[in-house]
Amino acid sequence: MPKVARDFDPSEKSTPPTQSRIDQRKADHIKINLEQDVRSASTTGLEHYRFVHEALPELDLERIDTTLSLFGVRLAAPILISSMTGGTEEAGEINQRLAEAAQEVGVAMGVGSQRAALEHPEQIPTFAIVRKAAPDILLFANLGAVQLNYGYGLDHCRRAVDMIQADALILHLNPLQEAVQAGGDTDFAGLANKIEGICKKLKVPVIVKEVGWGISERTAKLLAECGVAAIDVAGAGGTSWSQVEMHRAPDEFTRKLAATFVGWGIPTADSILNVKRAAPGMTVFASGGLKDGLDIAKCLALGASLGGMAGQFLKAAAVSTEKVVEMMKLTKRQIEVTMFACGARGIGELKDRLAKIER
Ligand SMILES: Cc1cc2nc3c(=O)[nH]c(=O)nc-3n(C[C@H](O)[C@H](O)[C@H](O)COP(=O)(O)O)c2cc1C
Repeated sequence: MPKVARDFDPSEKSTPPTQSRIDQRKADHIKINLEQDVRSASTTGLEHYRFVHEALPELDLERIDTTLSLFGVRLAAPILISSMTGGTEEAGEINQRLAEAAQEVGVAMGVGSQRAALEHPEQIPTFAIVRKAAPDILLFANLGAVQLNYGYGLDHCRRAVDMIQADALILHLNPLQEAVQAGGDTDFAGLANKIEGICKKLKVPVIVKEVGWGISERTAKLLAECGVAAIDVAGAGGTSWSQVEMHRAPDEFTRKLAATFVGWGIPTADSILNVKRAAPGMTVFASGGLKDGLDIAKCLALGASLGGMAGQFLKAAAVSTEKVVEMMKLTKRQIEVTMFACGARGIGELKDRLAKIER
């Protein structure tokens, strides 16, 4: 009998959870991320880089171009709302606000794991609202890759994509998160083959992401061999899911286990370089602890195509759509001013303007 698939969520046990348990868990996730300090003890590594200032950039700020095309969709700026939520009424509201803002500004967005909605169809509207509110954005579906070892297959991937008319599917990798919780799904053996199978058969591109511990050269090479279309490094330096686990731990043993890993992971900057070394042609999304447009610009200079933020957008969405729009506009302007002040006319020119700070 196949093992039953589990969500990104830590607390889900091996049988489909009841509606009220899912609601409680989703609410916990959002509450912990909004109210507790869940930051990694690691930094992103971006602090080791600085753009070279140009006093005579020979550019008009108003003509700086941050647009790009990805998977056939035009974006106004290389900004991604990282995969987060869906499932409950509150999560649906957050998704709606994020989507409205993404549509207004023209940035990309991912939804949270859709596993619960595949098993509880009444939750579908809390995800489907995103495409309704944002008909033109680059949109990513989301499922946990480990679920492919627990009974999930191509059909589930297709249904997740169809549910929100996504442009691509993100499969997330969260081995450490599964390992530091009671009853986690820890069988990651043979997963690469299954990811390869999905990449071959799914009609839309497959992207693989971490959730805050980064990507090594070895993992990047393996994923490139699987045929993934892009890797989102989700490196260390921002939200730490072992810290989220620690705050949700049912007992002292689990709490101590989770707390051990507060500084774990490969910093975001190192992760980008790892992927570029292992698979030079791979499309890279940068995320994990990015705090503003300057951080995103550094990631673009290191080789990323998009810069994603999760925790930060969640905090804005908890307030209003307007707050998210405001944050996105500020982030976009920060990228533009960075490009202006270092003399980069387009995103592609940023890489020649970044210097490593020697210590
Ligand atoms: C409330 C919340 C829920 C999340 N849920 C998911 C998820 O379902 N699937 C996923 O791939 N990542 C999920 N993530 C991880 C983020 O996409 C991201 O990789 C991670 O938080 C690091 O980014 P940050 O430092 O900007 O927060 C979630 C993050 C937050 C804050």
